[in-house]
Amino acid sequence: MTAPPNDPTKAAGGQAMWGGRFTVKPGEVMQAINVSIGFDKRLAAEDLAGSKAHAAMLKAVGVISADDEAAIQRGLSQIEAEIAEGTFPFREEYEDIHMNVEARLAELIGPTAGRLHTARSRNDQVAVDFRQWVRDACARTAGQLQDLQRALLAQAEAYADTLMPGFTHLQPAQPVTFGHHLMAYVEMFGRDASRFADARARMNESPLGAAALAGSPFPIDRHATARALGFDRPTANSLDSVSARDFALEALAAAAICATHLSRLAEEIVIWMTPQFGFIRLTDAFTTGSSIMPQKKNPDAAELVRAKAGRLLGAFTQLAVVMKGLPLAYSKDMQEDKVPTFEAFDALDLSLAAMTGMVADLTPDTERMAQAAGAGFSTATDLADWLVRRLDFPFRQAHHITGAAVKQAETLGVDLAGLSLDQLQAIEPRITADVYEVLTPAASAASRTSYGGTAPSQVRAQVARWKEQLA
Ligand code: ARG
Repeated sequence: MTAPPNDPTKAAGGQAMWGGRFTVKPGEVMQAINVSIGFDKRLAAEDLAGSKAHAAMLKAVGVISADDEAAIQRGLSQIEAEIAEGTFPFREEYEDIHMNVEARLAELIGPTAGRLHTARSRNDQVAVDFRQWVRDACARTAGQLQDLQRALLAQAEAYADTLMPGFTHLQPAQPVTFGHHLMAYVEMFGRDASRFADARARMNESPLGAAALAGSPFPIDRHATARALGFDRPTANSLDSVSARDFALEALAAAAICATHLSRLAEEIVIWMTPQFGFIRLTDAFTTGSSIMPQKKNPDAAELVRAKAGRLLGAFTQLAVVMKGLPLAYSKDMQEDKVPTFEAFDALDLSLAAMTGMVADLTPDTERMAQAAGAGFSTATDLADWLVRRLDFPFRQAHHITGAAVKQAETLGVDLAGLSLDQLQAIEPRITADVYEVLTPAASAASRTSYGGTAPSQVRAQVARWKEQLA
């Protein structure tokens, strides 16, 4: 189809070419794609804080009068109250949170409202709002991670002696304690918390005062506004100030890594809860029944935590792709930074709450775990180590002798401790009766006293260290 040469935007017949499948007018399409108030209203508190700090600074440096500043502060406080009461009119025609607040301020205090935007642009405004939000989300998440760590510590301490199989390749490998297993997650979530703390420290610089992109000709005090908003200092390059979103990417990367940790623990809960494993029980608080199979107890909360990792990894990817290749300085693309970030932190918040709840709720079946800890010739390494220590075999040879013992036990349908001394001596004549002391799962676990090992004494030491750190 060719458009008439006199108006390239009109198709034959005169209707707008981009009208196509839209039943709305071009202006409405523009508003629909441009509007962000639906999601950036979540920045209202940060936007008001930024405006209050900016107004106070403008007065302090003599750019606006004390009377005007007082009127602006009064209007902003009223808007704050309206938002708290739920009466603030969020209006799509004002596009975003910044213009909604400004428009409402003008309704409340008249043309003086227009003085607030001196030496400022929406570009540095949205940057300072979003930075505050992400910064505070990082701090909140680090706190939630510590709550999860505390829940894990309580269970680890209670079950420091409880034996269970340790796995590699999900095959029984060596006996460990349940406390030790849980403490592995305390370490992971500790690193996650420190990642959020690091990211928070790095991003805690104020972009306010960068204005549109080049800075301001007014005698603004960026150090004062930075201080007022809890930032450590102002950002040092105005172009970077309005263009940077790596603070959000870093937070999302930390969130995505954390979600992978949560999903691993969630997966273990799912496995442990199967009747085949039967290692733990969860109460009805975190499980559901089936509408058709009355015997079922489904670990839905764990499954959903496992699945949220998809959302969180997606959020990081989404923002990374939005930011990739953007020229300096601000482009409207960057408005798309908020949805993935809000969604990611909402999902993480819920996942952490659910996981903390499940950890506190779970009860291990210690008998069943202990039984499983002894299955699968899990003390074979202990036999090999005994041959090295007591009979001075090189480890490779000890490994070979142990293999023969495992084969013999398998043939007879017993575990290693079920082989008689005669049977063991038929394999290696110098084996003595005290070998049986290392062949039980309890002895195996208790012997692993190396730093960070599974021995209950080590587990208790690590629990104590973490308790002190989290106090
Ligand atoms: N709503 C916009 C955003 O989220 C605010 C900044 C708009 N700046 C501009 N020059 N249009 O990014």
